[in-house]
Formats: sequence, structure tokens, C-alpha cells
Amino acid sequence: MTHQRIICKSEELIEKGKGIRFSVPELGDCLSAFVVRFETKPYAYVNQCAHLPIELDWNEADFFLREQDSLICATHGAHYEPQSGLCILGPCQGKRLRPIKVYEHNGVISNTLD
Ligand code: FES
Repeated sequence: MTHQRIICKSEELIEKGKGIRFSVPELGDCLSAFVVRFETKPYAYVNQCAHLPIELDWNEADFFLREQDSLICATHGAHYEPQSGLCILGPCQGKRLRPIKVYEHNGVISNTLD
């Protein structure tokens, strides 16, 4: 069964800016998720590093490097491609963040989890 939930309004998600954290009950109480906007599109992932089971953000909802071209894990600095979740630098290079499907439609961003 597919569940769909509204995460936020489109205007709240700024290009290469702060992400928006959201909960996905299917993942259990211990895991959250986040969405960011990169090159106009929203991308969402489970908020858990591919290196260790730790959340990524260095301040709440801050996921981008200063140069804004990669997502970064606050703990040991793994860099991830925003559009694929692939770790391109760091201790978990070659691994991936777990993606969550998100859709932008009628000014709203929503997610589904199969
Ligand atoms: S926990 Fe994320 S890089 Fe080590």
C-alpha cells in the first residue's frame, strides 16, 4: 500500500538552503527523513548516514556544505550528491543514502513510501 503525505509548501523549500525534516512512521520512531531542493528539484532521504546510524545535519536541518554542492554528514564529513544520495567522499564512499520518493505538485511537496 502506498501512503502519501504533505511535507511542506513548495515556497518553504529554498534552493540549496535549509532542508525540511519530516517523520515517516513506517521507518519507526528512531528515524527521521529530510528533503532539500537542488537545481530546482526536491530530493528526500532517510536522515541516516551510510557510515554509521547517525543523523546527518550539523545544525538542525542544515545539510548542505558551505559550497552548496554536496550534502554533508556532521559526524565524519561524508559528502553526498544531493540528486542521487551517493557518497562521493568520506568513510562510506560508494554507499548511498536511502531515498524517499517526493513529488512537487500544485505548490506542495509530498512523499510516498511503498
Ligand atoms: S557517521 Fe556520517 S560520516 Fe561517519
